[in-house]
Amino acid sequence: MDPLLFTPLELRGLRLRNRIVLSPMLTYSAERGFVNDFHLMHLGKFAVGGTGLVFFESTKVDPRGCTTARDLGLWKDEFVAPMARIVAFLKAHGAATAIQLGHSGRKARSTLPWEGRVPSPDLPGVDHGEEWELVGPSAVPHADGFPVPRELTRAEVKDLVEAWGKAAERANRAGFDVVEIHGAHGYLIHQFLSEHANRRTDEYGGSFANRMRFALEIAERVRASWPAEKPLFFRASAVDEEGWRIEDSIALARELKARGVDVIDCSSGGMTARSAVESVRTLRYGYQVEYAAAIREGAGIATMAVGLIIHADQAEQILRTGQADLVALGRELLHNPNWPVDAAEKLGVGRLGYGQLPRSYGYWLEKRAGTNYGGRPSTWQVGIGDTASAAPARIAASEGLR
Ligand SMILES: Cc1cc2nc3c(=O)[nH]c(=O)nc-3n(C[C@H](O)[C@H](O)[C@H](O)COP(=O)(O)O)c2cc1C
Repeated sequence: MDPLLFTPLELRGLRLRNRIVLSPMLTYSAERGFVNDFHLMHLGKFAVGGTGLVFFESTKVDPRGCTTARDLGLWKDEFVAPMARIVAFLKAHGAATAIQLGHSGRKARSTLPWEGRVPSPDLPGVDHGEEWELVGPSAVPHADGFPVPRELTRAEVKDLVEAWGKAAERANRAGFDVVEIHGAHGYLIHQFLSEHANRRTDEYGGSFANRMRFALEIAERVRASWPAEKPLFFRASAVDEEGWRIEDSIALARELKARGVDVIDCSSGGMTARSAVESVRTLRYGYQVEYAAAIREGAGIATMAVGLIIHADQAEQILRTGQADLVALGRELLHNPNWPVDAAEKLGVGRLGYGQLPRSYGYWLEKRAGTNYGGRPSTWQVGIGDTASAAPARIAASEGLR
């Protein structure tokens, strides 16, 4: 029996060639919100390397929502054509394409990670060329020393729901197969969900139902204009540092499912400045898989597991044990964009990996496998070529993922 990792998955009208997903990852390479050849090269590697579903990074529905001046945007029509070119390239190499639509709210407008990720002034030359006021559900800063956002008016909240819908329409025009609503990591949707960040007294604050309203209205609005045959994902922080519990996520997932969300992408945290530091101590292989399992079981919805999924057999076991339907890899795919090929070989189905490469690569590798080691690496080769051997060092360097 072929491994589940390489068994195609159908979601609505979409068929994924395997269950390996490139997790959304900011590359901080956009220019005034536009994609460029860096994105073609960067994302192209994963499509060519055999990944089933390739995610564009968190792309903002409103310029005020950019985390940094180098975020991608989809807040106007001009963004569609250059994105469509990249989407077509990825599809031509057999990958399905996804885009994550987000807004950073009170966590917007900061410097780049390697510049300290500190609040950035809204000054010409530093900005992305658009209005960049810091807004949030309430005038509560992300942490001490962070700027206080302006509380969004009710009308502005409705405008943002609409902005997500319009961005999804543009994503459809660009040819994407999947849209994901970014509801995690302490960004705007998560801020509305949080009792801590959301102190509103209108219908968007207070009770659990009120705090979920923004997320659910966005899901409804996006679903209304996102084609029925295309899947819709929602990334959630399954638990956070300010009291959001897995039970809350299960309840949210049930509501999202009722509104046409197909997959919950299960991440965690991001609500406080200390979370990234805390996570260094607690991170371990598959540290969020248990959330994917709990939400899948509790809400009866498909889930995607993410977070230090490194090894082929680890990924296969997550699927085999019914903990998730998809596995997303971030840094391990950055490390090795050909991970799917490597994984296929390690799971004893090298031919499936090679078959997903361009013929001009696959032909030669298949031939080499046939002559050298019958499609399976020898013990010696596992020893020197094991991409996972550097994993402990990468775990230690996990700070600042969000
Ligand atoms: C450079 C970098 C950028 C990231 N950008 C995003 C993003 O745009 N949206 C998001 O939801 N998560 C983002 N993440 C989190 C990843 O999607 C992923 O959940 C996290 O890295 C854990 O998976 P991993 O251990 O396989 O890297 C980012 C992570 C990294 C390392």
